[in-house]
Amino acid sequence: MLMLRKKMARSYKNFSTDFVILSFISLAFTPSEASNHKFKSKMSNYHIKNLEEYFQVYRKSVRDPETFWEEIAEENFVWRKRWDSVLKYDLEKPEVKWFEGAKLNITENCIDRHLYTRGDKTAIIFEPNDPSEKAEHISYRNLHERVCRFANVLKDHGIKKGDRVCIYVPMIPELAVSILACARIGAIHSVVFAGFSSKALSTRINDCDCKMVITSDGSFRGNKTIDLKGIVDEALESCDGVKTVLVAKRINSEIYMKVNRDKWLQPLLDEAFHDCVPEIMDAEDPLFILYTSGSTGKPKGMVHTTAGYMVYCAYTFKNVFQYREDDVYWCTADIGWITGHSYIVYGPLANGATTLMFEGVPSYPDFGRFWQVIEKHKVSQFYTAPTAIRALAKERLDFSDKYDLTSLKILGSVGEPINEEAWHWYNDNIGKKNCPIVDTWWQTETGGIMISPIPYSTPTIPTYATLPLPGIQPALMDEEGNELKGNLVDGRLCIKFPWPAMARTIWDDHKRYKETYFSAYKNYYFTGDGALRDSTGYYRITGRVDDVIIVSGHNLGTAPIEDAINEHPAVAESAVVGFPHDIKGNALYGYVIIKDTGESRDRDNLRKEINQIIADHIGPIAKLDKIQFVSGLPKTRSGKIMRRILRKIAEGDTSNLGDTSTLLNPEVVQEVIDNVL
Ligand code: PRX
Repeated sequence: MLMLRKKMARSYKNFSTDFVILSFISLAFTPSEASNHKFKSKMSNYHIKNLEEYFQVYRKSVRDPETFWEEIAEENFVWRKRWDSVLKYDLEKPEVKWFEGAKLNITENCIDRHLYTRGDKTAIIFEPNDPSEKAEHISYRNLHERVCRFANVLKDHGIKKGDRVCIYVPMIPELAVSILACARIGAIHSVVFAGFSSKALSTRINDCDCKMVITSDGSFRGNKTIDLKGIVDEALESCDGVKTVLVAKRINSEIYMKVNRDKWLQPLLDEAFHDCVPEIMDAEDPLFILYTSGSTGKPKGMVHTTAGYMVYCAYTFKNVFQYREDDVYWCTADIGWITGHSYIVYGPLANGATTLMFEGVPSYPDFGRFWQVIEKHKVSQFYTAPTAIRALAKERLDFSDKYDLTSLKILGSVGEPINEEAWHWYNDNIGKKNCPIVDTWWQTETGGIMISPIPYSTPTIPTYATLPLPGIQPALMDEEGNELKGNLVDGRLCIKFPWPAMARTIWDDHKRYKETYFSAYKNYYFTGDGALRDSTGYYRITGRVDDVIIVSGHNLGTAPIEDAINEHPAVAESAVVGFPHDIKGNALYGYVIIKDTGESRDRDNLRKEINQIIADHIGPIAKLDKIQFVSGLPKTRSGKIMRRILRKIAEGDTSNLGDTSTLLNPEVVQEVIDNVL
């Protein structure tokens, strides 16, 4: 510990002293007009301000997790009824319950309680795709009204507590508003990223039996427009359970509206009542479902529940971004992913923050767009993905140099390991060596950030996510299932104690939840990632150890992609692996065996058709960069494809393929190497 501190003290000198003295800004907690409970305004562990405090708070959170979280929950949120127990858990079942017995509504915490003190403060800044279109500032008061109206529209269409509502909406205010409207009435939202295909959408709608879909007539993305409603129509051909489709107007295109099913949203909102009494939820009632790819099978509908998720997102937002009252915070993720749920919507709003929603892309109208938005809105915290940083780092520096970035205080990174070069570019050119970079490691399943520096407290080192946040107990395991104690170890990353925002189950498949996360190591949550702990106790995430590939920060399972490829009538079998890519981090490499029909086929056409099928089944993000046609795939004698070998070949490293002689078909290895692309 002493060593760590010494090292930290050394690294800390790299930071400007401005960061050392930060004023303590407490949250002004205001009860909802509708809420009649009492609460305290004392602050304790909620806001960590220096390294000393971090260690103190962390130790407390490990020694006595229940008291630690209880104090945070008690002092910083509004509850309709207090909990009977802070935590009950059994990781063998597995079953985890936080704040059981408590009653609340998350929208009271994210909106209503701010109305007295921050009613006119901007809750959401909407920055449109086209920079010439005016940005919209939605105040907390206006957000309250919009959410209430929307909630009443949902109710008018028969949506009630526990019903699932699919939200397939681009990054426009209606996306955040519809999420909050569902939460207002206790409906479970299932947001599907509006870049997914109709097949991916229908699978997700059917998996959790959504009654309603909320969408828009289309979306803008750079210089393209996308016909979202057309995709919804196609998806709904195979979704009988959907009775209503609410359509927001965004691109003003002529679209097909199915009678009795499809309704324009705006006239309904205009007529709806402007207030809506919140549904009072149990702490463990589901708040939302969000799908994530697994290494096998269909996507997993991760279920997040209300109280624990709220407490954890709010707490981590406050600390990781050191949010202060007048800051403008911007996370560039799409709300269709967990990052957007937790750190565009719930975490910031629970802290009364101003959160920016950006509709566009970093390259439109040119590669200076992010930096222009930062200057325009005086953004203080900027949170993005390494893939975006790498793409922008390739462009001329005058794209960033011409903008005033002095409002920035903290930079964040999420979604995949950030390589050293990208880290330095970000630090030097965007942060001007003045902004701590928080490399935040977490997952859809974890609900919130798990390992991350706390700015002004934790000295940062490129490529290290550094230290666990309070309440998080990481463990590294060897292949035999033993926990690796001490420092300077490298293993599989697990978490050995429950935290409030952990997903509680997979929708309709608790068995799979147990198998995927709690079976590899008894009584540990297994993340699927590898990590090392250095001599000071810092964590560095080394990447996935399963068949999930992170492409441009998106989590893609190989199995669903292979299933899509195999649908092509000419394909006999396929295997997909990742290989390093300058911008995307990883790209996809497919090995494909074509059926022997005696016919000759144009290989380039076949490649296009295969990628089209993948785009139709999953979405364009899962397209393969390279497709190699092979006569066989290396397999073990039990018939398992040797992905490790295929991965090495795709990476161009054939020096250490191991003993291939025991394979079922060792001869194909050389053929694959000879024809590598
Ligand atoms: O492999 C890790 C990687 O992204 C995975 C989780 O992906 P997803 O559920 O889509 O959530 C992404 C946003 C939270 C992890 O298992 N990952 C995420 N953040 C980092 C990371 N890998 C390294 N460093 C990170 N900071």
